[in-house]
Amino acid sequence: MKKNLSDKTVVITGGTSRLGHSFVHRALREGARVHFTFYQNKSKAEDLIRAGATGHEVDLASMESLNRFIQEIRAAMSGLDVLIHNAAACRDHTVQNLSEEDWDYVMNVNLKAVYYLTKKLLPLLFKKKPAKVFMLTSRVALRGAYGTANYAAAKAGLIALAKSLAMELGRKKILVNAVNPGFMHSAMTVDLPRTAIERNIELNPLKEYSNPDEVAAFLSYLCGDEMNQVTGQVFHWEGRETIL
Ligand SMILES: NC(=O)c1ccc[n+]([C@@H]2O[C@H](COP(=O)([O-])OP(=O)(O)OC[C@H]3O[C@@H](n4cnc5c(N)ncnc54)[C@H](OP(=O)(O)O)[C@@H]3O)[C@@H](O)[C@H]2O)c1
Repeated sequence: MKKNLSDKTVVITGGTSRLGHSFVHRALREGARVHFTFYQNKSKAEDLIRAGATGHEVDLASMESLNRFIQEIRAAMSGLDVLIHNAAACRDHTVQNLSEEDWDYVMNVNLKAVYYLTKKLLPLLFKKKPAKVFMLTSRVALRGAYGTANYAAAKAGLIALAKSLAMELGRKKILVNAVNPGFMHSAMTVDLPRTAIERNIELNPLKEYSNPDEVAAFLSYLCGDEMNQVTGQVFHWEGRETIL
């Protein structure tokens, strides 16, 4: 039986994230050739490389590092089926205490790098019909969140960027969508204050964390040949009330 991602080339940032790690393993099982980025987590990166993926050490806040990564990707492939912007960074403070440096860092990693990578990899995406771009957003993009305005603003920016790109690239058969994976147990959330964790779980009608493995399976489905007509949308791995 043909695998869902046979012959697809996928680039995902943050392969070492909780969600990214699950997705990369699944995409490999589904037959994809996968290139992923990592930043500091070398042991998780080595695990993915052993499984068959190609790892790239990238600091998404650094233009020099980004440009090096783009050269590596251009040298490695002649066309790109799927680009997933999944890596993300937080530097949480209330706005009153938020430095410009922390504002810029989060914007650069979570939003500017997404614009820049997409723009620079478009020639490779144009070689495939359809090609797909996904951006990992968050419920906080729509709700806001106490003490993480920089992250929330960047994630809201991703939704506007995805919708705008969907309009600009539709005729070229490039689909651009955002995915909100819900509240997951990961490096990003593990050190949140207990009250914040409880509040986030309470927002889910099922009163539980989102399961990154299920989100990865959904993302893998979206990357495959059975989804060719949806663009400019935000998929929420959430209950209805959560995103109002
Ligand atoms: N966790 C949640 O509850 C939640 C909720 C809504 C949306 N999301 C979104 O879903 C996605 C995956 O989340 P997750 O919780 O699985 O992530 P995570 O486990 O916290 O991992 C974050 C990822 O971003 C990478 N990263 C951080 N700073 C970087 C930098 N300067 N340059 C390059 N890479 C950098 C990390 O690389 P290293 O580990 O190699 O350093 C890691 O791969 C993210 O976009 C996140 O915003 C998560």
